[in-house]
Parts: sequence; C-alpha cells; structure tokens
Amino acid sequence: MGKLFFSTNYDADTGGHFGEFGGRYAPELLMPALKELEQAYLSAKQDPNFEQELMDLYANYSGRPTPLYHAVNLSQQLGGAQIFIKNEGINHSGAHKINHCLGQALLAKRMGKRRLIAETGAGQHGLATATVAAKFGFACTVFMGEVDIARQRPNVFWMEQLGAEVRSVSFGSRTLKDAVNAALKDWFSSVEDTHYVLGSCLGPHPFPSMNRDFQAIIGLEVQEQIQQYGFAKPDYLVACVGGGSNAMGLFNTFLDDDAVQIIGVEAGGRDVGMLGEHAARFQGGRPGVVEGYKSFFLQNGDGQIAATHSVCAGLDYAGIGPQLAFLKQVGRVRMTYALDTEAIAAFKLLAQTEGILPALESAHAVAEAIKLAPTLGKDKTIVVNLSGRGDKDIFIVTEALGDAKWLEFLRSKVGQAEQISTKGRK
Ligand SMILES: Cc1ncc(COP(=O)(O)O)c(C=O)c1O
Repeated sequence: MGKLFFSTNYDADTGGHFGEFGGRYAPELLMPALKELEQAYLSAKQDPNFEQELMDLYANYSGRPTPLYHAVNLSQQLGGAQIFIKNEGINHSGAHKINHCLGQALLAKRMGKRRLIAETGAGQHGLATATVAAKFGFACTVFMGEVDIARQRPNVFWMEQLGAEVRSVSFGSRTLKDAVNAALKDWFSSVEDTHYVLGSCLGPHPFPSMNRDFQAIIGLEVQEQIQQYGFAKPDYLVACVGGGSNAMGLFNTFLDDDAVQIIGVEAGGRDVGMLGEHAARFQGGRPGVVEGYKSFFLQNGDGQIAATHSVCAGLDYAGIGPQLAFLKQVGRVRMTYALDTEAIAAFKLLAQTEGILPALESAHAVAEAIKLAPTLGKDKTIVVNLSGRGDKDIFIVTEALGDAKWLEFLRSKVGQAEQISTKGRK
C-alpha cells in the first residue's frame, strides 16, 4: 500500500493555490483557526503514527479496503469496455464521507477541540461527522438546509440517534450553500473549542488538499486491486462531482499518468441550458470567490450565487473544488454531466444487472460509464467510483419511479402516526 500523503504535478502551492484557483479568502476572525488547522495537518503528514492510526481506523472501523468489483453483467450488456465498481458504499455509514471525517476527527483531537460542526446536503457527510463525533466523544452540530432535511429525513433521524443536533437552515435556497454559510457563522463565535469538519475538497486552504489526502486511499486501493484482475492500470476513471471529495480521492493517485483518462460527472438536473435547473458548474459557471476559495461557480447576472437543482442533494451545489477547476482548465480532467433522468435510469440498470443499489449521486457516474463503455473495446477498463449506497434515496427513487405500492405503504404509516398522536392527546 502506498502512502496517503504524496504529491503530484497538480498540487497546490504553499498558499493553497491550484493555478488561479483555491487560496484562503476568509475573514480575519477565522484566519487563526485555519492556520492552526494547516499546522496540525502539515505536522500530521510528517508523523507516521498519525497515518498508522488513520489506516487502522479505515480498516477496523470503516471496513476498508472497499471492493473493486468487476461488473461483468453490466459490461456484457453494454457490449464494450469492462466496468469496475469501486464500492465506497460498503464503508461504515454508507459512503466515502467517513474517510475525511476520520482524518479530521483525529486532527481535531490533536488540536484539543471539544466540538465538531459540519454542513451537509445529502446527509451523508453529516451522518459521517455525527458518527465520528460519537466515537471520539465530541459534541456535534450539523447544519442542513430545510429542503435537504425534507428529502433526506432518514439521515436526519440517524444523526440525531448518534447524539448530534441537526440545525435546520431556513434562509436562502435552504440547501447546501446556505448550510455552509450557517456553519461558517457558527464557527466565527465558537472557533476556540470547535473544529469545522468541512465535507468536501473545497473551502479555504487547507481543506481542499487535506480532504483530498484523507480520500486518497480510494485511488491507492484501486491501483493495487486492478492489478489483481490482470490490468496494469485503469484506462478510464469516472466519478460524480459535487464538491469533489470522492472524485479527488479516486483521481489523485493517477493524475501524473497521462495514459489514464479522467472524467468528472456533474449534475445536469432537468436542463443544463437553464440556470437554476442544474448544478453543472462547467455548463455556464464563471470563476468567482465564494465561501473562502476561488473556483467556478454558477452565478446570476449580478454575480450572486445562483439557485441550483439536482435530483440528489449531494450534487446540488453551485461551486466546485478548486483543484478540479484547475484540472479542468489545464485539460487533465474532462468534465461532463448526467441529467436527473439519466441518473435514475442508471440506478435501475445497475440494480437490476448487478444487484447493487447506488446512491443517486453515484448513479451520475454510472450514467456516464453507460454512455462511454459501448464506444470502447472489450479490452479497455473503466473504474467507476460508487461513492455511496442508495438506501438513503428510497423516498426520491420511489417518487421518481411513481411506485404505487410505496405510496400505499406511506399512507398506512401516516394513518398509524395519526392514531398514535391522537392517543397521545387523549
Ligand atoms: C454518496 C455521495 N456521493 C457524492 C457526494 C458529492 O460529494 P463529493 O463531490 O464531495 O464527493 C455526496 C455528497 O453528499 C454523497 O453523499
């Protein structure tokens, strides 16, 4: 196994700049906390005990290595390249988010913090933060937009069971960007004893580089696992891109090898031609500085952050991690998108050919593999990062598929709930 902390030709400079992107554009009040975090991260990188402790948690707490699975049925049905699924959904708490949460929890412990805060969209990062908070004994508050709470209620329930407080964010578009703002606002007044567990490869330096390093285990495992199938390396890597944590986790190991082609998949929503109907930053986004970093953002005519839409909360965000913006700009990564309908169709196809239920975020990557595989020879390989499992999406998928039996089930549950609350009032 290679080391987690390695450098590539596409790394940030010491100020956290990836070309023109990245940096640390934070208010003066937060600078000491960001510098303290940077110091803790830099010293942890040099400390073999830190890496060993993290590797032990990956293996014995989260269940790594996650499998690299040859999706033979899907590959045969598509009639082209061999598709391999890197199944991050097998991780404890159901997605790749636990990788950077474990790393950040260890750093928070080193910094002597007592409380963790986090923002969440799909709830997976919030769930992973609540999980590590429970394990390490931190108090925990998770900020989540009202709209996301409504579409990801199961994760809210689980976070609360883990002892976290989920704070509903009711301003702005009431989605992920507003949850980030609420978390940053909390951090202003709690910075002494609180660590902000930022949930993707974005935000001010050092978060983009640090979370990428904590996710790099994904690509390192793939590098070894693909060889066990008799291939020297993958030909293509495909990952969905919200902020970029699962994507950078897979891509980082292979960035310096130009023979490996790399594709990021954004949320095309209902229509990539209409601002507000998608979350594909490279379909009409522009460079800007928002929430502490410079990158590509979907913006309205006044330069304000635009509303976004995706069928899945985890990709429904107007900004993208700065390293990915840079990789796209220099041509190392090709960015494309999948529509809501394509993601739902990919979800169904993967479920029914391989018995794997992907998270809807991950289904965007599967949708791209479905388009790509038939254009390639059978000797080519595509590794798809399946960032999470689909259990959390049951309400969205049943709605999208118009499942009548599920509606009937919900009605009976509502009936039962009403009976319970009437009894309670008597
Ligand atoms: C399962 C899953 N995949 C992907 C994402 C997108 O995040 P990122 O781009 O940081 O991997 C999320 C975000 O919540 C998620 O829950």
